[in-house]
Amino acid sequence: MIVILDFGSQYSELIARRIRETHVYSEVMSYQTDIKKICELNPKGIIFSGGPNSVYSDFSPQCDRKIWDLGIPILGICYGMQLMVQQLGGQVEKAKYGEYGKALLRIDDPTDLFTNLEDGSIMWMSHGDSSTKLPEGFSILAHTENTPCAAIANHDKKLFGVQFHPEVVHSVGGIAIIRNFVYHICGCEPTWTTKAFVDETIDGIRKKVKDRKVLLALSGGVDSSTLAFLLHQAIGDNLTCMFIDQGFMRKGEPERLVSIFSKQFHIPVEYVDARERFIKKLEGIVDPEEKRHLIGHEFIQVFEEESQRLGPFDYLAQGTLYPDVIESADTNINSSTGERVAVKIKSHHNVGGLPKNLRFKLVEPLRKLFKDEVRRVGQSIGLPEEIVRRHPFPGPGLAIRIIGEVTAERLNILRDADFIVRDEISKQGVYHDFWQAFAVLLPIRSVGVMGDKRTYSHPIVLRFITSEDGMTADWAKVPYELLEIISNRIVNEVEAVNRIVYDITSKPPGTIEWE
Ligand code: XMP
Repeated sequence: MIVILDFGSQYSELIARRIRETHVYSEVMSYQTDIKKICELNPKGIIFSGGPNSVYSDFSPQCDRKIWDLGIPILGICYGMQLMVQQLGGQVEKAKYGEYGKALLRIDDPTDLFTNLEDGSIMWMSHGDSSTKLPEGFSILAHTENTPCAAIANHDKKLFGVQFHPEVVHSVGGIAIIRNFVYHICGCEPTWTTKAFVDETIDGIRKKVKDRKVLLALSGGVDSSTLAFLLHQAIGDNLTCMFIDQGFMRKGEPERLVSIFSKQFHIPVEYVDARERFIKKLEGIVDPEEKRHLIGHEFIQVFEEESQRLGPFDYLAQGTLYPDVIESADTNINSSTGERVAVKIKSHHNVGGLPKNLRFKLVEPLRKLFKDEVRRVGQSIGLPEEIVRRHPFPGPGLAIRIIGEVTAERLNILRDADFIVRDEISKQGVYHDFWQAFAVLLPIRSVGVMGDKRTYSHPIVLRFITSEDGMTADWAKVPYELLEIISNRIVNEVEAVNRIVYDITSKPPGTIEWE
């Protein structure tokens, strides 16, 4: 395995994913992790991530200096390289010219890290500091126009540094550098495969759970569905899948989910119809955070009641993923006081994410996986495309796409409009061009004219976005023709709607959902 020490880079998870793409297991840990804990994992290599700080600033994250003498190969990326230079006796200074974006990499030493890499490859840079004096034993592997030390190495000690970001997709040949590091320098074997994961996980579940009973809250998303499959293969009927219908799912989804699982895959699903309870709870509620809290709270309530009815159970299966368990470096630091700052935008409600203080022991077989790895596992065990490649859908569902009060009537309006959006983009074969594409119902009305009659009805907002991870997003530049078809269909087929508008806000400053 490869350990990635996170110094606050926005790319730390990406580094881990790139390494796993080479079929080598990797984990992200905070730069503050005790060196003993790192050694216990017996990593074949360590990568230092980039980070937002300057190595010479007062609060710069530092690592235990003993790490350089462990004899484990290390690759420092950006801040990670600068830290290597600084701690080993070289010098880092504010560069005369920073480098942001593309840079042409000229290779001076085509061995080790740069084996089989083309001279003149484009690499992605993002730095204002540069290494101006190398520590003893180091030499330059590559340079760019503005950065003489763009890549460095101490070959004897197997310490390497790159000022650019090989992990980002814009760095041409970046993945080759990562492969050279993990295979040739660290000597890793490509053993991290989907099949190996599935076999090991099923075996692991059997050993842990034995003949005890497990409860799973199914949501219809790829995580809980994959979990249901793995658990069912491992323990058969000792698994109970519970699907709580809050009434905020999309048109036809609850029926489809129950039918896929029980009819197609012979995994029985306990369908809990809680629609009335939820809509009653939301009566008169317009504040987005209050809505989210009430839905989350009610969900737990229903879950507890139903689990008592169906139980007893020994274990609760959770779809916890790797990004939820990474203890990344928190380097959001106030530069004058050194205090850490956290900002909350929304309280997320996740159907799988029940509180830890329920009376169950937990089984979390996906906790080592990234989302794209879950998709691959789902695919490999035969989950249908419609689940594996479904757009993300928030736990509170359509309720947070109805601005203002959620009523049965307004839910029906939005559900019909949402159906048309999904139907059209699927028909046109562009469903996967978007990260998400959905409709939002506004609480206002406007005047229109239909069939010579005045109308006074609701506008629907179309929100189509592209994104890599949902953290940042851009509004999709959808062809006018597609917008036209969708707009026509919605105003013609959904009675209470007479106007369609298109949201052209990226994230930031907007968020993806309207609430
Ligand atoms: P925002 O609106 O914060 O959304 O830009 C980012 C991504 O998260 C999804 N989302 C949620 N997912 N529970 C979830 O499971 C939630 O409460 C929730 N709120 C937003 C959203 O659809 C987008 O993909």
